[in-house]
Amino acid sequence: MNKQVIKLDKLTINKIAAGEVIERPASVVKELVENSIDAQSNKITINIQEGGKKLVEVIDNGIGMVSDDAKMSINRYTTSKIKDADDLFSIHSLGFRGEALASIVSVAQVEIITKTEETELGTHLIIEGGEVVSDKPTSAPKGTRISVKNLFFNVPVRRKFLKTIPTEVNHITEYVTKLALAYPNISFTLIHDSKNILTAPKGDLISQITAIFGENIAKACLPISKKENEYVVTGFITKPEFSRKSKDYLYIFVNGRAVANKTMSDAILRGYGTSIPQTRYPIIFLYFNLPPDEVDVNVHPTKKEIRFSSEAKVYSLIESAVRESLESSGLKIFETVIETRHKPTTLTSVETKKPEFTKRETSSPLSSRDKASYTIIRSKEQRIDKFLPMKDTAVDTEIKSIGEKRSIRVLGIIKDTYIIAETQEGLFLCDQHAAHEKINYEKYVNQIKKNSVSVQQLLAPVSINLKPSEFEMIESIKENLRLFGFEIEIFGKNEILIRSIPSVMGVSIEFNTAKDIIDIFKENISEIKEKVELEDLEVVKDIISIFACRRSIKAGDRITLERAELILKELLGLAEPFTCPHGRPTIIILNEEYIEELFKRDYR
Ligand SMILES: Nc1ncnc2c1ncn2[C@@H]1O[C@H](COP(=O)(O)OP(=O)(O)OP(=O)(O)O)[C@@H](O)[C@H]1O
Ligand SMILES: [Mg+2]
Repeated sequence: MNKQVIKLDKLTINKIAAGEVIERPASVVKELVENSIDAQSNKITINIQEGGKKLVEVIDNGIGMVSDDAKMSINRYTTSKIKDADDLFSIHSLGFRGEALASIVSVAQVEIITKTEETELGTHLIIEGGEVVSDKPTSAPKGTRISVKNLFFNVPVRRKFLKTIPTEVNHITEYVTKLALAYPNISFTLIHDSKNILTAPKGDLISQITAIFGENIAKACLPISKKENEYVVTGFITKPEFSRKSKDYLYIFVNGRAVANKTMSDAILRGYGTSIPQTRYPIIFLYFNLPPDEVDVNVHPTKKEIRFSSEAKVYSLIESAVRESLESSGLKIFETVIETRHKPTTLTSVETKKPEFTKRETSSPLSSRDKASYTIIRSKEQRIDKFLPMKDTAVDTEIKSIGEKRSIRVLGIIKDTYIIAETQEGLFLCDQHAAHEKINYEKYVNQIKKNSVSVQQLLAPVSINLKPSEFEMIESIKENLRLFGFEIEIFGKNEILIRSIPSVMGVSIEFNTAKDIIDIFKENISEIKEKVELEDLEVVKDIISIFACRRSIKAGDRITLERAELILKELLGLAEPFTCPHGRPTIIILNEEYIEELFKRDYR
């Protein structure tokens, strides 16, 4: 066999490396802006076009580069920020790998204009395929302007995987928001397709928070400050009532770097104790500074993750700092008993109150007196085999046709949760919540399909302040949300008004529910934008079911027998009455044969 192993060419090597560093337009923004910060700029402007797919341009007023440095900077492993491996253990800049520009120039068309204080003329480079194709002196202000055009033009697979423009803009805006919070002494401006999305003039932290998040949040901020030897925590947290459904408002910075760190977020949540429900997260701006040699920032290609040399020390400092701040504002905080609270919630995990039936099992008189039959009734296999004709379409249609004119005699409701009724098919056990949810869901889906959702105009529209990334997103899907029955009006800078809601949700909504709705839309923006346009409701099924579920009768709600009968009749009139939108059974049928079997009558 001939020699097979070859050395890859420089462009290919850099393209492969770029795969790790540059995922999407927001990564380009991140790398360029971090370079501008490292270059001691105090004014940074970011221009993007088409969500950054067409253009990402960052202009700074930092120290700039001399011509030779500029040409050198686009190579791999070229940096001015570290000299050797020892420096890796004490990193004072955001960059250190000498990789970002090399990666960017290998996957986009790039132009650099840069000038230092000392030189009279600046340098203008045009780079194609990773190589400088034009190098001219130019007059320019002190600082650097780097324009990155047509990202992934030469990596079609990557380009294809980029998300919709609103999603990419959201990632970029969120990133710039973090940088603006991390560096309040730098002024940031973000412009998308000539529209100003975010302006954060330099000032103190609270003025940055006001500029980005609005006055309401700024006013709710409680200072946090604690020091232990060289570990220092500062920033602001907010009272528990400002909690959100999404984690997006946990802003954590370690030595000036926005990070996601489980130790820190767990410590924060523990600091809040039971004052915040387990499925919610506080709004927090937390800055943690420690000696650079006690934190490893080199554990992830995009430097988002970090590791501490003493996780326990960090945890206890942050937990107590949060608790003390809350307590000094007059709150009494109770500790949580569960170690790992705050598992991320999924759309499908909409809470339904668990009936007490299972909990009380041990004290049930049945369990001691007649354990055998009790177990039979609760046996899973039998339930599926015998009681649920769900999969059996023949039975399904049969029941449905009887459904219209069937006689249903509601015998009662147990635990204010399960309706018991007698019908021709046997004894029905119906979960009132699952049933009502299913009815509301089907109604709502049908209305959406016909584009005629019945809406409830709110007597008092709910106004919500959004951060710039959310605002852009919601604005971009405003029209799609009409289809769901939500009428949203843009109201001043970063503020929206919810004017109407789908009738299935009732006649009014609380402020916190309104915020949750925004979070739900945010989490599913690309589905809402793309799939609703294609009328592919399957993908947005979970969202629909959340809204449909809001006003449904819950387990534990007391309803009349007449209402129970109506619910059963309406349910049985549906095409698939036996499963709720979340896939749980709505009705369990104990047919005569089975009841006889339970009483051992079939062996007579
Ligand atoms: N906006 C800028 N102003 C001044 N110098 C810059 C600017 N951008 C890049 N440079 C110079 O180019 C070098 C290479 O930048 P690059 O982003 O590729 O690497 P890095 O920042 O050193 O490390 P990392 O890959 O971790 O970002 C930098 O070390 C810096 O000297
Ligand atoms: Mg860099």
